[in-house]
This record gives sequence, structure tokens and C-alpha cells, in this order.
Amino acid sequence: MGGKIKAMDKKIALIRGDGIGPEIVAQAKKVLDGVAGLYNHKFSYDDVDMGGIAIDKWQDPLPEEMLKKCLESDSVLLGAVGGNKWNSMPGDKRPERGLLRLRAGMGVYSNNRPAKIWPQLASASPLRPSIVEKGIDFIIVRELIGGIYFGAHRTEEEYGQKKATDILSYTESEIERIGRIGFETARKRRKKLCSVEKSNVLDSSRLWKAVMHRLAPEYPDVELSDMLVDNCAMQIVKDPSQFDVIVTENMFGDILSDEASMITGSIGMIPSSSLGSTSCGLYEPIHGSAPDIAGMDIANPIGTILSAAMMLRFSFDMPAEADCIERAVSDVLDMGCRTADIMPADPDEAAKCRKVGCSQMGELILENLRKD
Ligand code: IPM
Ligand code: MG
Repeated sequence: MGGKIKAMDKKIALIRGDGIGPEIVAQAKKVLDGVAGLYNHKFSYDDVDMGGIAIDKWQDPLPEEMLKKCLESDSVLLGAVGGNKWNSMPGDKRPERGLLRLRAGMGVYSNNRPAKIWPQLASASPLRPSIVEKGIDFIIVRELIGGIYFGAHRTEEEYGQKKATDILSYTESEIERIGRIGFETARKRRKKLCSVEKSNVLDSSRLWKAVMHRLAPEYPDVELSDMLVDNCAMQIVKDPSQFDVIVTENMFGDILSDEASMITGSIGMIPSSSLGSTSCGLYEPIHGSAPDIAGMDIANPIGTILSAAMMLRFSFDMPAEADCIERAVSDVLDMGCRTADIMPADPDEAAKCRKVGCSQMGELILENLRKD
């Protein structure tokens, strides 16, 4: 099988970011280099400053030339941005704004966040075993460059007090393009698509629902259902096995994907891909920069390493190489190696595991890379 693989040259923009970002990206890079060696590819890296570090260096969370580096790359791998140090900055100067501008600048409107339980970590799920046993394997397709995160934000003085406003709007075409990704994603899986909105209150959600139903006849093989977002939050913990693909707007997807990650054991395990109309994607773990544990070498690098695997699969058309990384992660979990966040709470279970740090976890995954 390995013989058929063509050697490729790829340029990867690396955004280490803030907090634990540099530590986890270093592990992913290590693993990518291991894959390159194994399959004869050449990965080169271009360092990009974004987030707090870019504010400190350039007084701008995403300077134009940094965005340009990303657009000129074959794909972007990102750790995490943000931290207490920049929390009091005005909204448009915060590290997070750099991330939002990067996503918009790259046009990556479709964010894919898998919520899948690793069998080795089933006991780390906060849900009852009887719920976990029914299976957790779904994907949240989150609209990423529209909605309330991108509407006008304004704080003004009104009648002697402050008033703050954030605008949530969607056009039909914005909904249609992400809706189609939802249907197509479901088509490749168990063919069940759940469109999540708040159509009992919001106009933007009523339009969302109408567009989804207009598209449905084009995908007769996919079963479309609707769910209100508050109910969805409840169903994710009550019976996550009912979901295959969830498609939803930006803010709902942000919130639900944190919830979905937690039921799989740890947010530290979950990768994500963000794609638009080109193959140049943005790959990042869904967790934040965790400033409280930054520099301590205890963060879980697996979310970032699996994001690198997604990059190989979705942007570089390297499915065997992506499988190779995922297999190594699984093998290392089988060996009982755990970062702090995925250590079992039960002392008997914990005694069977080996607690490892961030760089050690990266090293173990690297050592366990092997061709099929
Ligand atoms: C995420 C994060 C970001 C978001 C923040 C850091 C802007 O929470 O990727 O889920 O809201 O999209
Ligand atoms: Mg989030």
C-alpha cells in the first residue's frame, strides 16, 4: 500500500499562539516530521504570530503579513490563543479577534468538530456507563465566519448607563453553503443530519430552518431533522447516540462543541478542521490556551496532533498518513499512557495507567508511528 504513495512537498503555516499553544504545537510538529520521514514527504514550516504574542510584538493580533503567510501556505496548524494578560484589551484588540480575522481572511466557513469516544477513555466520560455504552460518534458542523461573532459589536451610553449590542444575522447563501456541507458530511456517514437552531424565537433561526428544508429534497438519502438548541444541549448529555451530524450556526456550534467534547472524556482530545472553497484549511484543537497550566509540560497535545492528522486527510489528501497518526494515538492510549486531563478518576483504574507530560506524550506518539 505504502508503495503507491507519492512524495509531496507541503508548506505549513504554524501558529503556536499563547498559553499552552507553543508546547502542544511543538508535539504536533514532531509527529508531522515523523510522518514525513516515514512516507518520504517534505513538510516545511513558516512561523506565524497571531493572538497575544502578536499584540505584544506588533500591537495587532493578526498583522496583514501574517495573514498573507497563512494564505500562501498549503494549510495552517494552530495551537491556541488568548490569556489573562490581554483580557482587559478592547474587543477589537484582543487575541481572539486575531483568530476570528484569520478564519474570515481564509474564508474557512465550515468547521468540523468530531465528538467521538475513544474506547480506552470511556471511563473518563462524565456520563453514566449505560449512556456511553450506546456509543458517542457524531460531528458538529459549525458555521464559522458569520453570525453574532461577526456582526457589529457596540457599547454605548444610554440614559445614564452602558448598553451593549451584538448583531446576529445570516444571509440565505451563508446558510446554504454550510447547510450543504452538513448534508454532504452526513451522506458520507450514517446519513442523519440534525439542524440545530432557535426558530421559536430568532428570525435568523427561522431563515436557517427554511433554507435547510429547501435543500433537503436535493439529498433524499439523508434524513433531516430539526432541533432547538436548548433541547440539543439536553439531548447531548441524555442520549448522544442519537446524533450523526449536527449542523448549526457559529455561536451555537461554539457552545455545543465544548459540551460534546466533554462527554467524550476531555476537551484536550478533540481536533477540528476549518475549510472554505480551497484546500488550504485551518486546523486547531477546540480547546483554549489554558494559561493556568502553560509552561508546565502537562497539557494534552493529542487534540493538536489529531488536528495535524485531519490536515493530512482533508487538505493534503494523505489518508494513509492520517490513519498512521490516529493509529499511533490509539496505540499509546492502549499502552495506558495518559496526560493529567485523561487520567481516570477511579484510583484502581488510575493505577493501571502511566501519567505522562505533554512532550512525553508527543514523543510516545512519534515512536509509535508505523506504516499499515
Ligand atoms: C473556539 C473558541 C473560539 C471561538 C474563541 C477563542 C474565539 O472558543 O474555537 O471554539 O469562539 O470560536
Ligand atoms: Mg469554543
